[in-house]
Amino acid sequence: MVLAIETHELTKRYGTQIAVNALSLDVKQGEIFGFLGPNGAGKTTTLLMLLGLSEPTSGTARVCGHDPAREPLQVKRLVGYLPESVGFYEDMTAEQNLAYVARLNGIEKSSLPRKIEGLLDQVGLLAEARKRVGAYSRGMRQRLGIAEVLLKDPKVVFLDEPTLGLDPDGTQKMLDFIVGLSRDKGITVFFSSHLLDQVQRISDRVGIMLKGSLVAVGPIQELAKQKLGVDQERFTLEEIYMRYFREGVPAQS
Ligand SMILES: Nc1ncnc2c1ncn2[C@@H]1O[C@H](COP(=O)(O)OP(=O)(O)O)[C@@H](O)[C@H]1O
Ligand SMILES: [Mg+2]
Repeated sequence: MVLAIETHELTKRYGTQIAVNALSLDVKQGEIFGFLGPNGAGKTTTLLMLLGLSEPTSGTARVCGHDPAREPLQVKRLVGYLPESVGFYEDMTAEQNLAYVARLNGIEKSSLPRKIEGLLDQVGLLAEARKRVGAYSRGMRQRLGIAEVLLKDPKVVFLDEPTLGLDPDGTQKMLDFIVGLSRDKGITVFFSSHLLDQVQRISDRVGIMLKGSLVAVGPIQELAKQKLGVDQERFTLEEIYMRYFREGVPAQS
């Protein structure tokens, strides 16, 4: 089994506050991992540490075999990141935005127009490729963000609340893309969300964060069995989640 992401006691403090508390977690290559938790649980902080964009207070992480704190450039080369809110050049078209990012990342020029066209097609933006991004809806921006993430042919993608603010149709499209990344391209997907039903629909495994601590990790079925004592096909993650929420964070041993 090849691990795409490993963390060991990964911790981030802001002053006296612990944003991420001794997080130990493994994610397998090709897996869709749903990182769940309410606002303020420490999801974004974890992503930033895995990307090498925020330095851990203590503990270690490996992404594709590299330590993001020590080898941020190697990690950057291998991973894609969709932040909660993606920034584009509003006056440039989708095509121009992708070409610009490609240039920054030193992506080979000769095959670029074809690649950009292929990616815009994949995310359903080909018809709007020459519209200025300033006129894009939130759903279109998110899909352009996915195209940008895929420019680098990443091994692992980190998506921070990718469905936030999308309408039901946009949400479904985004979830389909995520599944496609894993199934068709073998990309490892680590995505955060506070929306339980979505995570349940597409994740191979989930981790549940509460106040900086990982309180549960595993396939949804297993978590349901452990926590709710249910061994059935139909259950909601909401129930599991609320159970943890009521019990709070277990004391660290
Ligand atoms: N730059 C920062 N400075 C101080 N506190 C922060 C900073 N970033 C996050 N926090 C705090 O860390 C906790 C976790 O935040 P975050 O990782 O953004 O949670 P989530 O993404 O799950 O909503 C929150 O209490 C938040 O206020
Ligand atoms: Mg966040």
